[in-house]
Amino acid sequence: MIQKQSQRRGSFPQRAAITAAAWGIGLMAGAGVLAQTPQAYQVEQGEIRAALADAGDPVRGRAVVLSRESGNCFLCHAFPDADGAPPGNLGPEMSGVGARMNAGQLRLRVVDSARVNAQSIMPAYYRIEGLNRVAAAYRGKPLLSAQQVEDVVAYLAQLK
Ligand code: HEC
Repeated sequence: MIQKQSQRRGSFPQRAAITAAAWGIGLMAGAGVLAQTPQAYQVEQGEIRAALADAGDPVRGRAVVLSRESGNCFLCHAFPDADGAPPGNLGPEMSGVGARMNAGQLRLRVVDSARVNAQSIMPAYYRIEGLNRVAAAYRGKPLLSAQQVEDVVAYLAQLK
């Protein structure tokens, strides 16, 4: 009994240290993303054809799409594999989007939705100028990193 109590006492600071380390890593990763110089891109015929970063990873892309901290896409769109996230209905359903649009079109849509539809309510996730719908702290900084854009494009492209 005495031993059990001392073990229990011992476990709390240990867990606190692990949590603190996890936070530290998260903050460092966040700072790294924001410190990156945004990648220039070219829009041709409704597409951004050149990738902004390394080949995207659909698994990471799905996490961005369903994340409340980064993509938040599920607020407006329904995704076929959303794992219980309530389906948004302000924008079109995302099942089949990879068959409807090619990677260049998906990339432009995510980077700067207003280039596709000037009245779009969808946020520009990688445009860096002319942002007026974002909080002051984020002005001048893209909502997603170049790699996150590629990850999201890779995820959307396989929704066929
Ligand atoms: C505030 C709501 C909102 C959010 C958040 C949002 N979208 Fe959209 N999205 C829309 C609307 C509305 C449209 C329909 C076209 C338009 O009005 O611009 C659209 C269109 C699209 C299209 C084109 C679909 C088609 O069939 O033409 C894609 C792809 C897309 N969104 C992906 C995303 C992704 C990926 C995210 C997150 C990174 C996201 N959207 C976040 C509202 C949103």
